[in-house]
Amino acid sequence: MSKTILITGGAGFIGSHVVRLFVNKYPDYKIINLDKLTYAGNLENLRDIENKNNYIFEKGDIVDEGYVIDLFAKYNFDGVIHLAAESHVDRSITNPMEFIMTNVVGTVNLLNAAKDLWKANEEGKLFYHVSTDEVYGSLGDTGLFLETTSYDPQSPYSSSKASSDHFVRAYGNTYGMPYVISNCSNNYGPNQFPEKLLPLFINNILNGKALPVYGDGKFTRDWLYVVDHAIAIDKIYHEGRNGETYNIGGFNEWTNIDLIKILCKQMDIALGNEVGTAEELITYVKDRPGHDKRYAIDANKLKNELGWAPSLQFEEGLVKTILWYLANEKWMNNITSGDYQKYYKQQYN
Ligand code: NAD
Ligand code: TYD
Repeated sequence: MSKTILITGGAGFIGSHVVRLFVNKYPDYKIINLDKLTYAGNLENLRDIENKNNYIFEKGDIVDEGYVIDLFAKYNFDGVIHLAAESHVDRSITNPMEFIMTNVVGTVNLLNAAKDLWKANEEGKLFYHVSTDEVYGSLGDTGLFLETTSYDPQSPYSSSKASSDHFVRAYGNTYGMPYVISNCSNNYGPNQFPEKLLPLFINNILNGKALPVYGDGKFTRDWLYVVDHAIAIDKIYHEGRNGETYNIGGFNEWTNIDLIKILCKQMDIALGNEVGTAEELITYVKDRPGHDKRYAIDANKLKNELGWAPSLQFEEGLVKTILWYLANEKWMNNITSGDYQKYYKQQYN
């Protein structure tokens, strides 16, 4: 059945993989990608599908209420997959207001526009809100985040995402907004902006620069290959139950330092260097303020209900990612010229 779907943040890291999947898999759907093209948005990520008949790009800001209302009137969307966000914890520490505006106000603007367009509990309509496991806060040495785990966000980023999740549920409860939410663990893969751990370290190894490990490096994250996240979003969009939350994770926990050592080894192999070369760049630096110790997801609800599981083993995904960055040095060079240098200086010097 034909549908018109708005994907927000489709020029970003995860959004571009979601847009590609939907445009290629559903030729009968019309996919509208709304993106402000902030420093993190890059239309280069979508070159391979930009001329497809079922794809339209709209440059705009979800914080602009009038613009969002007009866009909904223009396209009469059946569904929204909302990924647009400010997404980097370190930036949220230096500039929380930007996160409140885009992640909270922007989300509420989209909810209002959908509420005005759709009837309560209207069949065939869906607001899919893409969120993060960081809303649950930090775990100790044991335990996993479940969909029922209480929210306990610790950073300005996770607080803004938690707030947006609450608004989505409130609109479901109060106005009959048909919705699903998914909370995913750390993603990695092609097209990730080099402010996040893996692409930053890959870029630094390529340039012989120090690898800045925060604190003692013993912080734990659960890593998922980005395409597996996009596949989960597709499944949840089409088969998820109205009003439900699904946790998405890789069943794949690593301490940062162990992850970095594997990355170093695989980079040495890929570059034909003696194993041990990249590890020499590891430098322990001042910790991130309020740094969450451990995130780990229990994704069994998604697995048991919808039959989703990660398709890639971690080292396979990591090597694939490294080879993508090596083959796309121009992509990296384009985004690391200009403003990136200013950010890097402010964050690490
Ligand atoms: P990203 O920073 O790579 O991309 C965000 C995109 O949103 C960019 O293209 C940017 O231009 C756009 N955007 C920002 N502000 C906007 C605005 N005001 N109006 C319109 N567009 C705007 O982020 P990502 O890593 O791809 O994350 C996408 C979503 O997934 C976010 O909601 C994030 O919270 C969530 N998430 C990310 C991860 C992860 O590991 N990266 C994990 C779980 C959940
Ligand atoms: P990041 O990729 O920023 O994701 P998040 O904070 O959302 O989990 O960071 C992943 C982990 O790596 C986190 O524990 C912080 C750490 N880290 C460093 O040690 N050094 C760095 O330069 C960066 C960017 C992150």
